[in-house]
Amino acid sequence: MSDVDRVLIDLKGVSKAYQTPAGDFYALDGIDLQVRQGEFVAVVGKSGAGKSTLINMITGIDRPTAGAIEVGSRPIHRMSEDDVAAWRGRHVGVVLQSFQLLPMLTCAQNVMLPMDFAGLYGSLRERRQRALHLLERVGLEDQADKLPSEVSGGQRQRVAIARALANDPMLVAADEPTGNLDSRTADAVFEALEQLIAEGKTILMVTHDRELAARTLRVIHLTDGKISTVNGFGERIERMGVHAGAPLQLEGLSTDRFAALTTCLGNGLNGSPIRNRQSAIRNRQSD
Ligand SMILES: Nc1ncnc2c1ncn2[C@@H]1O[C@H](COP(=O)(O)OP(=O)(O)OP(=O)(O)O)[C@@H](O)[C@H]1O
Ligand SMILES: [Mg+2]
Repeated sequence: MSDVDRVLIDLKGVSKAYQTPAGDFYALDGIDLQVRQGEFVAVVGKSGAGKSTLINMITGIDRPTAGAIEVGSRPIHRMSEDDVAAWRGRHVGVVLQSFQLLPMLTCAQNVMLPMDFAGLYGSLRERRQRALHLLERVGLEDQADKLPSEVSGGQRQRVAIARALANDPMLVAADEPTGNLDSRTADAVFEALEQLIAEGKTILMVTHDRELAARTLRVIHLTDGKISTVNGFGERIERMGVHAGAPLQLEGLSTDRFAALTTCLGNGLNGSPIRNRQSAIRNRQSD
């Protein structure tokens, strides 16, 4: 099985109930979901639909009341809190709806924190270099030495995104990563996420932004804790101007778009002419 065929996230019958005076309230109710490595998945739905709860389950921040969650074949629902925290710190980049930067650390130090915890990237100097590079990626290289209170809300959000990338995670789970950003900055952040897909990462992104959701390869709609619809590959590929049976028209697609498309094809569109995503991207880049 090639990497792109691998199921990275596997949820079976996942429910999360909260006890309320009126009885159990199900924030998630029997979710079955599989996400393959390299997919870019948007999670949409009304406020209160269960989107953040779903992210919290998949990242092991919270535990389900029932069901099983495997991420990279690890049974997240059965691991101890310490083990989940260590696993998450090493393999998952989380951008929470409230960004949760540490107020007494500078932006760069916040980005270095996950590297420090996981003991990665050698010396302090190397960690700072890496943090500066990640901040540059989200357009914040000139804000590195400010405290979170000294930058804007949108800038704090971008620091949180840089921090999520600190340890080169296989999975990025982002809850409204563009929620407080103007459309141009949101676009830049989205493009940074698309670039991660080109690098083979997997992304789950909660968003209220329909346009951004439409640019991902799969959109999962949550309604009252249940998956109501999944818009999948076919529809999205058609939007890209590629139709079943027709030769692939790759001219004019940006490298990121091309990477997203080949990821999608590699993820199981039948008869895909492109099986090896990385070499396809390389070929494209050397065009
Ligand atoms: N600790 C809790 N106790 C009781 N109910 C909770 C708790 N946390 C969340 N809920 C409820 O679970 C439901 C799902 O919450 P969740 O935060 O996942 O929604 P969401 O889809 O992320 O909404 P939003 O778009 O507003 O962020 C909501 O109805 C919420 O009130
Ligand atoms: Mg939420």
